[in-house]
Amino acid sequence: MNENGMKLLFPKEGRVYDYTLHDGGFTDPTEDGEPANPYWFNWMDNLDDYEVDPEWQYADIEVPTLDNVRSAAILGYKITNYNHVICVGPTGTGKTVTISSKLSRGLHKKFICEFLVFSARTSANQTQDVIDSKLERRRRGVFGPPPTKRQVFFIDDLNMPALEVYGAQPPIELLRQFMDFSGWYDRTNIGEFKMLIDVGMVAAMGPPGGGRNPVTMRLMRHFHYVSFTEMEYNSKVIFFYYLRGRDIKRVAEHAALLPLIPAVDSIGRNDDGDEVVVSNYI
Ligand SMILES: Nc1ncnc2c1ncn2[C@@H]1O[C@H](COP(=O)(O)OP(=O)(O)O)[C@@H](O)[C@H]1O
Ligand SMILES: [Mg+2]
Repeated sequence: MNENGMKLLFPKEGRVYDYTLHDGGFTDPTEDGEPANPYWFNWMDNLDDYEVDPEWQYADIEVPTLDNVRSAAILGYKITNYNHVICVGPTGTGKTVTISSKLSRGLHKKFICEFLVFSARTSANQTQDVIDSKLERRRRGVFGPPPTKRQVFFIDDLNMPALEVYGAQPPIELLRQFMDFSGWYDRTNIGEFKMLIDVGMVAAMGPPGGGRNPVTMRLMRHFHYVSFTEMEYNSKVIFFYYLRGRDIKRVAEHAALLPLIPAVDSIGRNDDGDEVVVSNYI
């Protein structure tokens, strides 16, 4: 390739999923404000240094790892483009943490976010009441957030609601009704249809099992999917270092730090199946 004067599109190290495109000043800022050539850079570059204050609660810590930085960015693009998004992945992959921090801190102020958590006992009426209570009347029969804003509802554990006699999940059928027909009927004023505008949904769910049910495809077809995978080995290393208050800055340096992990608690395996040391701190 070199002989023919061709260059690799992506940097040599890692996989294509590790990189994102800097669009050369079109939307991403450049150093001098002048347009530049687009280039690929690692998701973890250009991040502010993250430091864990020993005073913080564990639950407040959100360590930036390749997976959640990337998922949060994709989530942001989708929401800004008015798509409905669903994040799927096994429990403990950081869906709740990543989405709620992106929604509460990482979006343009045009987006107003509201969190709902579904449980086995959530009913369709409750869901409708909560959503209705957050929206105001725009004009006759039409409801929405204040003008110029967009309301985003984050529904955690979407597939938790119990199945009714016929095998459907009423809260989910209600959401499907909203997504198919942009609204629902008023329960007090029988016969009046309430149209909901400027409303977006972000949902999270784990695989069926343990109280979670398979979700109907009639609902799923409305969503863009973002997958959350089990943490990569490198992410775990970053994680333990941060949680122990170590000062690590760049992901590229982490590999070099691997042999330095001093407190040995157990032996694990990395992505290649080699035996390595993993500290179990949390
Ligand atoms: N990037 C992260 N930084 C810090 N803690 C994390 C991170 N990702 C996940 N966790 C922790 O892992 C646990 C599970 O995360 P959670 O978001 O509840 O997963 P999910 O919603 O996918 O089941 C939580 O206690 C959370 O604090
Ligand atoms: Mg969760």
